[in-house]
Amino acid sequence: MSNVIASQVDIHARYGGIVPEVASRQHLITILPVVETAMAEAKATWQDIAAVAVTFGPGLAGSLLVGVNVAKAIALAHGLPLVGINHLEGHIYANWLGDGQPVFPCLCLIVSGGHSDLVLMSGHGAFERLGRTRDDAAGEAFDKGARILGLGYPGGPAIEAAAEGVTPGFSLPRAWLKGTDDFSFSGLKTALLHLVQERKSMDPIFVAEAAASFQQAIVDVLVNKTLEAARRLGVGQILLAGGVAANKALGDGFVSNSSVPVLIPPPVLCTDNAAIIAACGYYHFQLGHVDGYDIDVVPSLSLGSMPQGIGHSLGSDSRF
Ligand code: KG4
Ligand code: ZN
Repeated sequence: MSNVIASQVDIHARYGGIVPEVASRQHLITILPVVETAMAEAKATWQDIAAVAVTFGPGLAGSLLVGVNVAKAIALAHGLPLVGINHLEGHIYANWLGDGQPVFPCLCLIVSGGHSDLVLMSGHGAFERLGRTRDDAAGEAFDKGARILGLGYPGGPAIEAAAEGVTPGFSLPRAWLKGTDDFSFSGLKTALLHLVQERKSMDPIFVAEAAASFQQAIVDVLVNKTLEAARRLGVGQILLAGGVAANKALGDGFVSNSSVPVLIPPPVLCTDNAAIIAACGYYHFQLGHVDGYDIDVVPSLSLGSMPQGIGHSLGSDSRF
């Protein structure tokens, strides 16, 4: 009913990335005004609220602690149930807030600043992780690539803007990791670094062509590996999630190559926000999931356990 976001992008931009201590202090300053504004915009009173959902991981410990403790205090003060939500699962639920209608089983590609996970979702709360990143996450690759090219932070939108309408001019490597559903982007990042080091000057045309080539390499791998897994599993739908899902080239790559429907949330629901945690909390609460006040943050929380023994070793024909 309302979705209030206190962005810290401007504060972290001057450091070229998120400074954890700065982030958690900023959370402390903004969280209560954000809750008050969200309640006011929704024209809601505490009597209208059925439960408090909060993400307890994965993420930065200090920031998670602020959210979890504020949620506990609100739940205790108003006598409301507390529902702990996995941040990655929350990203997937952006698809329940968009125009499309998700159907199970579906294949979810979660691409954020910390994760590139391929997850099979067979029902609400039922996940099996098929693949993950071996090194840099897709969003992390965008952020590091942008830094190499002297573009701003966050890197994803900066690279997307620089690459807009530009034909990729350089051949950069793709790590297919054949026989697995895993991803790897650190080799691509190193290749971009070498490309830049070989240049004498970073003229805008070079930067734009390098940005377009870099973006295309990430998009190619994400699209092809996800579609390959979708074919193998015979799923009828693909859901994109996480900050990188806001990338238009990625969305276009899926829409023009997929034979099954691909749901892509609106950009504001792709990057971190509270509505996706609430949407996920709604379904968990319906399933009877309620947490105690002893719930703690889990900064390295993952989503769905890896299946045993099916193709998770490095493929012999892998390029890296
Ligand atoms: O999901 P998110 O908001 O936060 C995390 O949970 O990590 O994702 C942030 C990541 C950043 O790495 C950012 O560069 C990337 O998402 N991102 C994008 C775009 N918008 C945000 N990457 C590519 N293209 C975009 N338009
Ligand atoms: Zn996120």
